[in-house]
Amino acid sequence: METFRTKLRQVDKALAEASVYCGHGYESVHDEAVALVLGAAHLAPNQSLDLLDQAYPSEANERLDALVRGRCEDRMPVAYLLGVAYLAGLSFLSDQRALVPRSPIAHLIEEGLIPWWRGTEPPSVIADVCCGGGSLGILAAKRFLKARVWLADLDADALALASENIARHRLSDRVRCVQSDLLTHFGEQSVDLLIANPPYVSDREMSELPPEYRQEPRIALEAEAAGTELAVRLLRQARSVLSADGLLLLEVGETLVELEARLERVPFLWLDLPQGGSGIAAISAQELRDWHAAGIL
Ligand SMILES: C[S@@+](CC[C@H](N)C(=O)[O-])C[C@H]1O[C@@H](n2cnc3c(N)ncnc32)[C@H](O)[C@@H]1O
Repeated sequence: METFRTKLRQVDKALAEASVYCGHGYESVHDEAVALVLGAAHLAPNQSLDLLDQAYPSEANERLDALVRGRCEDRMPVAYLLGVAYLAGLSFLSDQRALVPRSPIAHLIEEGLIPWWRGTEPPSVIADVCCGGGSLGILAAKRFLKARVWLADLDADALALASENIARHRLSDRVRCVQSDLLTHFGEQSVDLLIANPPYVSDREMSELPPEYRQEPRIALEAEAAGTELAVRLLRQARSVLSADGLLLLEVGETLVELEARLERVPFLWLDLPQGGSGIAAISAQELRDWHAAGIL
């Protein structure tokens, strides 16, 4: 009898032999194997260990073979194969219309932005710019229950997925999609909390990425000028769009090195991220005003 345990061993081995790259929400080949074995059997990820010695459903075998081929031969990330991604305790529909959700900003939101949010009241207007499938804005809407949230992106395909995620989480009364080139849609002082994970991969880095990244939309990864162009534009636009006590959470990953070189007098504070990841800054509206006044941004 083939059990979940034997299936898991086989899939684990196949993924390891194919040297798949785990950079899309799963930390190891083993975690990916668990997700595929359960996903093919239409089971949720949080199963008890007792399942390991139960018979693997024979009707799931064909699906599992196809998933393993997709992962090993086509280098498709697990989230796209299963159509779902998990982040900070929530699940999101995920497909090739948008980046696989994995931003470490999710964990800052989950913790209520302590100690970064300094307003006396929770943020009442939130914008997730460059929202992709909308995971970060939706997490913010779940954490700040009275906030109105905008999910903004330039890409209509990403926004279509984001609106499916709004429906999945039954948030259409408070969360809306808008097509916008960075912050051009937003008026002066109209947003309290800006969340931004813009594309920040340079041309050179694009060609060096593992093949899994080529399954994601290029517009979600690539940015001009050593990866810094969109981040710099965002920093400049955010000053006028944020309310007086507003906050910008900006992710630039390892491009922080190029960003610091380009804006060499801006004293960025990069957050320590216990859950992993790098290159996230929490920047207050006051800091943006000060940097502008000092002529360094
Ligand atoms: C790195 S992905 C982030 C997606 C999502 N926030 C996440 O964390 O999974 C960047 C997103 O920025 C969008 N984008 C690229 N250029 C843009 C622009 N000029 N204005 C707005 N969005 C843009 C892409 O379509 C993509 O969805």
